Amino acid sequence: MRDKYCGSVSKDDIGKTITLSGWVFRRRDHGGLAFVDLRDVSGIVQIVFSPDISKEAHEKAGELKQEFVITITGKVDRRPDGTENMNMPTGEIEIYVTSFEVLNTCKTLPFQIDEEEPNEALRLKYRYLDMRRDEVRKAFIVRSNAYKTIRDYLSENNFFEFETPMLTKSTPEGARDFIVPSRLNPANFYALPQSPQLFKQILMIGGFDRYFQIVRCFRDEDLRADRQPEFTQIDIEMSFVDVDDIVRMGEGLVKAVYESITGNVLETPIPRMGYDDAMELYGTDKPDLRFDLSMTDLTDIFHETELGVFKKTVEEKGAIKAFVLKGKTLSRKDLDTAVETAKEMGAGGLIWIRNENNTLQSPIVKFLNDGEKASMSERLGIASGDVIFIMAGPRNATNEIMGKFRLYLGGKYDLIEKDLYKFLWIVDFPLLEYSEEEKRYTARHHPFTSAKESVRTFQGDYDAIKAKAYDLVLNGVEIGGGSIRIFRMDEQMAMFKLINMSEEEASEKFGFLLEALEMGAPPHGGIAFGFDRLLMMLLRLDSIRDVIPFPKTQKGTCLMTGAPSRVSSKQLNELKIKTTIV
Ligand code: AMO
Repeated sequence: MRDKYCGSVSKDDIGKTITLSGWVFRRRDHGGLAFVDLRDVSGIVQIVFSPDISKEAHEKAGELKQEFVITITGKVDRRPDGTENMNMPTGEIEIYVTSFEVLNTCKTLPFQIDEEEPNEALRLKYRYLDMRRDEVRKAFIVRSNAYKTIRDYLSENNFFEFETPMLTKSTPEGARDFIVPSRLNPANFYALPQSPQLFKQILMIGGFDRYFQIVRCFRDEDLRADRQPEFTQIDIEMSFVDVDDIVRMGEGLVKAVYESITGNVLETPIPRMGYDDAMELYGTDKPDLRFDLSMTDLTDIFHETELGVFKKTVEEKGAIKAFVLKGKTLSRKDLDTAVETAKEMGAGGLIWIRNENNTLQSPIVKFLNDGEKASMSERLGIASGDVIFIMAGPRNATNEIMGKFRLYLGGKYDLIEKDLYKFLWIVDFPLLEYSEEEKRYTARHHPFTSAKESVRTFQGDYDAIKAKAYDLVLNGVEIGGGSIRIFRMDEQMAMFKLINMSEEEASEKFGFLLEALEMGAPPHGGIAFGFDRLLMMLLRLDSIRDVIPFPKTQKGTCLMTGAPSRVSSKQLNELKIKTTIV
């Protein structure tokens, strides 16, 4: 139905008669002529209806409305001098229509295709119209091209592509499962995979050496701007490897995707930071390094202090941590707002100190002695005009709240260089974390993650064990994570013991993997990247929904199809299911 795409008509076609098909994007009438911007997936071209070329076509053009689907035949011509539009690739030519046909009409639109920011609920309900919008279309074309970049890179590196089951058993990522009832096995349920974790390990035990899959994962979590209940991972597993091998391979993949999308070079190796340093300096395991505000530990300076909160913190072996904000003028109101914000973030309080012409000003300054003031000023390297923010309390909690407060300062005082891409590996995560809910230590990544030193020789300090686990962070967002796995049964059993998981529970949940570990499992490890998150970040979009063709709302609903929805009582009866809500 066409000779070429609208966006690819060029000066080389001048003089030719061609057929194009697409949508009526905009139309305007001018000087007895009707101009239509004809649009297809490749772009836009201007077509002209002139009574001198075809009286019939010109008359019929009066019927054309927005988003009508038409096919036209016409002659390509150079645009008259002064009417070229150098902002569009086809801006030097136009097509004089000799004949055309309306293939389909279009009702009144719920929003205009060229509207700046249509309402998001409407965009999702009428996703097919939304997709006709330039930026949306471009994002999905980038996504499509990225699949190819990924497959090319991984197949060049000897990876095999697999598909793993969607109807499966609970996996160990630890979010809530989506479950699917089995009609053939009443009262039994499949779980949709939170990731293919166990299957990819099985593929290594099966001898495949290198596996990848671009795979849908399902997690019933509370949603945020960078989370969806179903999302896509680039999932990778490799045999006979250690941390460096996975990090290098993952870095190569991200470099390929980054370079193909942004057109810039990504310098590798990507820097690495230990988890402990990240927490001490930035108060988070996903620091945004587009601004270099980091925390300084002042605890030791205040060992003899008279100031109540510091004294209590020192006695309770907590931490006193500070940020220095340079080169910004803060009013008293700004400082009060900062204190309020810190409290909303969970801080007991926030101390501020202003350096004005080299004297420290703050309601608490009178409680500090000269030695403390001098040591603090020296360690923080403060100059006139700087503002110091200090929090004191239990170390981990203080670091974390300061981490949030850092992002507040970054946003409020414009510290973030928005056009940077700052990648960072976080390594040496703790193997375990204490779960207040379950009142026991649980695996921080998942229970198949190997420790840096064998857990068979566990000495009793849960917090001290480091994992061979790593995350890739981009501008403060976790875009990937993985680990080297436990591959021997004795080590795996020691790990289960550590997290208080009985042999029965382990065998009920992961029996097939445990059995496989005893039949020649090779050392292996892997990583999964959040494909949607990576695209969202590289395209600088605010919401993960903008890179997913058919996303869910914050409430987990699909506005286009109306899922989730009630099912018929016949369906429920077949499944032997009764709901308590009628
Ligand atoms: P993890 O749970 O860290 O690891 O997930 C890997 C990456 O997937 C992305 N991600 C999400 N993206 C969008 N919406 C979500 N709800 C969501 N949850 C996670 C993140 C994250 O870094 N099996 C392990 C990987 C391994 O050990 O190899 C796993 O799934 O970018």
